[in-house]
Amino acid sequence: MQTSDHWEKVYQNKPFDSVSWYAPHLGESLRLIQKLCPDPTASIIDVGGGESTLVDDLLQQHYLDVSVLDISRTAIDFTRKRLGQQAQQVNWHVGDITQYDFGEKHFDLWHDRAVFHFLTEPVARQAYVDLVKRSVKPGGHVLMATFGPDGPLKCSGLDVVRYDDQTLHHEFGAGFQLMGSEKSEHNTPMGTRQQFLYCWCKAYAI
Ligand SMILES: C[S@@+](CC[C@H](N)C(=O)[O-])C[C@H]1O[C@@H](n2cnc3c(N)ncnc32)[C@H](O)[C@@H]1O
Repeated sequence: MQTSDHWEKVYQNKPFDSVSWYAPHLGESLRLIQKLCPDPTASIIDVGGGESTLVDDLLQQHYLDVSVLDISRTAIDFTRKRLGQQAQQVNWHVGDITQYDFGEKHFDLWHDRAVFHFLTEPVARQAYVDLVKRSVKPGGHVLMATFGPDGPLKCSGLDVVRYDDQTLHHEFGAGFQLMGSEKSEHNTPMGTRQQFLYCWCKAYAI
C-alpha cells in the first residue's frame, strides 16, 4: 500500500483522539519550540502535523509564520476545520515530505514529531535530510521527536526506526550541530507508554 493511502485510511477511519500518538497538547514540542525560537516572527514548520493541536497552540502563543505539512489531506482538512477562521493564518501543505519542495520558503525551526522514524529506507531518509538542508535557514533549528531506544518497534502497523541522540544526529550529518536531547514517555489513549526521544540541532551557517 502507498504511504499516502495508509495515512488517508487511518484518518478516515479513526477518531482524532483514538490514535496511539494522540495527546491533547504536544507539551514538550511547544516548550522546546518556545525555548529555541522565542521570537514570534520566527517561521516554523510542523512536518507531519496530522490532526495534532500544536498549530493551535503556536497561534495561541502568537507565532505569526506557521506552516503545517502532512501527507494526508483528510488530516489537514480536519485541522483546518478545527481552527476555523484562524486557519487562514497558517500555510498548509499536503504532500510526501520525502518528495516535497518548499521553493523559496525557508524556516527558522523545523519540527517533526513521529514522522522521520517511519523512514526505514536510507534513500527516503537522505531525501528528507536534503530537504531540511535546503529549507532551514543557516543558524535555524531542527527539532525532532522519534521513538527512543526503548520505544516501540512499530507504530500504526508500520515498522519504525528507533534512535538515540547520536544515531539521529548521524542521519543529519556534519552540517548540523547537536544542541540537546531528552527522553520522555508518551501515554497512549490505549493506556500504554511509549518512549520518545526529543533531539534538537542547529543548522550550521554556510
Ligand atoms: C504518528 S503521526 C504523528 C502526527 C503528529 N506529528 C503528532 O505528533 O500528533 C505521523 C504523521 O505523519 C504523517 N506522515 C507519515 N508519513 C509522511 C510523509 N512521508 N510525508 C508527510 N507526512 C507523513 C502522517 O499522515 C501522520 O499525520
